Amino acid sequence: MDDSDNTPSNPRALAGARSISDIIDARLTRRGFVGGATAVSGLALAGCAQTSAQAGLQTNGGEAAAPSRGFDFPEIARGLDETHHAPAGYDADVLLRWGDPLFTDSPEFDPMNQTAAAQARQFGYNNDFIGFWPLPPQSQDEERGLLCVNHEYVSTLLMLPGVAAGYPQSMTRSLCETEMAAHGGTIVEIVRRAGANGGKWAPVVGSRYNRRITAGDTKIKISGPAAGDKRLRTSADPEGRNVIGTINNCAGGITPWGTYLMAEENFNAYFTGDLPEGHPETENYKRYSVPSGSYQWGRHFDRFNLAGEPNEPNRFGWVVEADILDPASAPKKRTALGRFKHEGAESVLAPDGRVVIYMGDDQRFDYVYKFVSARPFDPENRAANMDLLDDGTLYVARFDEDGTVAWLPLVFGEGPLTAENGFASQADVMIEARRAGDLLGATPMDRPEDVEADPKAGRVWVMLTNNTRRTADDVNAANPRPENAFGHIIEIIEPDGDFAATRSRWEFLVKCGDPADPAFGATWNPLTSANGWFGSPDNCAVDPSGRLWVATDGNERTGAADGVWAMETDGDRRGTGRAFFRAPVGAEVCGPRFSGDGTTLFVAVQHPGDGRGATFENPTTRWPDFNEANPPRPAVVAVRRRDGGPVGG
Ligand code: FEO
Ligand code: CA
Ligand code: CA
Repeated sequence: MDDSDNTPSNPRALAGARSISDIIDARLTRRGFVGGATAVSGLALAGCAQTSAQAGLQTNGGEAAAPSRGFDFPEIARGLDETHHAPAGYDADVLLRWGDPLFTDSPEFDPMNQTAAAQARQFGYNNDFIGFWPLPPQSQDEERGLLCVNHEYVSTLLMLPGVAAGYPQSMTRSLCETEMAAHGGTIVEIVRRAGANGGKWAPVVGSRYNRRITAGDTKIKISGPAAGDKRLRTSADPEGRNVIGTINNCAGGITPWGTYLMAEENFNAYFTGDLPEGHPETENYKRYSVPSGSYQWGRHFDRFNLAGEPNEPNRFGWVVEADILDPASAPKKRTALGRFKHEGAESVLAPDGRVVIYMGDDQRFDYVYKFVSARPFDPENRAANMDLLDDGTLYVARFDEDGTVAWLPLVFGEGPLTAENGFASQADVMIEARRAGDLLGATPMDRPEDVEADPKAGRVWVMLTNNTRRTADDVNAANPRPENAFGHIIEIIEPDGDFAATRSRWEFLVKCGDPADPAFGATWNPLTSANGWFGSPDNCAVDPSGRLWVATDGNERTGAADGVWAMETDGDRRGTGRAFFRAPVGAEVCGPRFSGDGTTLFVAVQHPGDGRGATFENPTTRWPDFNEANPPRPAVVAVRRRDGGPVGG
């Protein structure tokens, strides 16, 4: 997946292979823990303070803003080992593991003999997005809710016994089906009762809400402007309106009307084979790096082979919406939100009630988008909201040097999005959203990951994870560091809190990396401790107090585990990171998600035990079971303060 994110396909990027990038990557890998753990020296602090001041550490560029409550918890230490860590005074309990039962008929987890049928009744692999939807408690002493969890992809060699030696020939049709069943999402009811299970969260096996959505057998409808378009028609679906499955569901969102948005990210990695010579989708697929062929599905299933089913890749790369209260409903691919490598899809309401969804397209030199619904959310009428995401305007962001964000509409017939440039309809604009963004002059970013809003303060944080392919020749104001190994976080300030605005302001929150190494040009607040800095921000969450939390994917390259950091965004402490949670070796951290009152933080530990050369037989950890019979298991962890207070203090 990393290769897929890292290899640019944007023709506007000068990029290409720059050997310096590879040198830096190699250097970082070699640094190891000792280098990465170097205490921040006084000299480095002075340098950091200077760059922080240059970056403008004052709140919102100097405007008066109500400061959010700061953090108060004992930081954990940087490090890298076989298990997870939370601060003193907190419990971090494993809630759901790959293979755990969801239904009364779920077979027991048997990693040596996993099948598609068993997997489709169990919690899937590589948990990423976590959504939480509170349900009314059934007694005074309990909390209850639905957890919605994406299963982004599978780590084939770590998940399946005996396939590493003969890979890829070892991947039989039935093993590919098992992989498909481990993808998608899980909706599961969870409950926490005083006096039961030690007061810890537990899944409700057999709840009427429980559901698995998979890549292999879930029937999904296509809706919005591209539904029925000829470019989405296949031999199995001559109408272009029904597709089997969803893949590479990375982050996502929970809407105010109780649906779950699943963002399809690196869909290109599932396709193999060659398009017929001169096929009209050739250029389109090149822009999305299709095919990339990380999986063997195309050997056994025509629909994942371009030679057999050339239009199938146009049916992936969308945001999928599922009704979490109706397990029998067909999820819908919402084509009005555009087709790209969707990282996440968290929503927020504009003052007039329209729904705004900020989205990153996670590839080097790709763009940041936002969708604004045509109609407002109706809090009194759930049914009226169920197709809100079919009508609206998709905008792509241009970050200007003067601190303005111009949101450029992807509307057929406007500007360059015309027949002259090969667009015949709004369907074409949505299917080729990236090319539309190229023509509109959007700003090529350093791999946009999660984007989330603080609804009360009218601001939005954009995680830009890294881009070591950016050269000194193609830096821009919002992506100013060449060879940006550890990414940065941008804050967007919407005028008068109007998330639907088409002109906003932006500034940096922090440029990540080791503040002790001037080569990185990191801009942490000098209050940041030696544990508090990080690299490669990926997923994020805003807690009920409006505080920002950041999860990383790639911090291990600094010699310390990926994890979750609290990020101060206001006042004198703005730009200060504080280490909160650490994953076991090999894992990135996804989610994160707070329960409604902020007293539980759910985090997803993805691909634990992975790493150079790791296999089912030889993982880098056997977290969380530490049982020689079991491989490592991706899992959701619930973090709570022992006194039941708000997470983060
Ligand atoms: Fe699936 Fe961009 O992380
Ligand atoms: Ca991510
Ligand atoms: Ca990631």
